[in-house]
Amino acid sequence: MSKVKVVFWSGTGNTQAMADAVANGITSAGGEAEVTTFDAISAADAAKDTVIAFGCPAMGAEVLEETTVEPFMADYEGFASGKKIALFGSYGWGDGQWMRDWQDRLTSAGATIVGGEGVMANGAPDADTISALEDLGRQLAQA
Ligand SMILES: Cc1cc2nc3c(=O)[nH]c(=O)nc-3n(C[C@H](O)[C@H](O)[C@H](O)COP(=O)(O)O)c2cc1C
Repeated sequence: MSKVKVVFWSGTGNTQAMADAVANGITSAGGEAEVTTFDAISAADAAKDTVIAFGCPAMGAEVLEETTVEPFMADYEGFASGKKIALFGSYGWGDGQWMRDWQDRLTSAGATIVGGEGVMANGAPDADTISALEDLGRQLAQA
């Protein structure tokens, strides 16, 4: 049985709800999900897994959360080659630039983005987005 980490940061709970939906998708496909936060794991530990999910909302001005997530990802890029990574996150008023930048830096580091692109929610995830996140989880369980 595949065990997949779903690592997230969330200030007000929207990205956390998205993480839970990804985890539900993983378990619905017969996998095992481990939901954890960016401050609970090192990049080197996360890099032990070939398949992993990361979630972070748009913060600052279209950037990742800067205290925990950005330093984590800067480290993780050194390990990203060959990984299959699912990305997700919530945003407010932007157009998803933070997610495109996140995808691009991991792709440039040699990773594959599961599902082709990150799943975004404007604010709290609606029913369609929950379905997309569950589908992403199923893809992770089978990746
Ligand atoms: C300090 C701060 C900076 C933000 N910067 C952006 C931004 O650049 N672009 C955007 O679309 N939303 C931005 N937002 C909105 C959040 O991405 C949005 O509220 C999101 O739903 C928060 O997700 P969370 O509940 O997982 O923390 C920002 C919110 C905060 C608090």
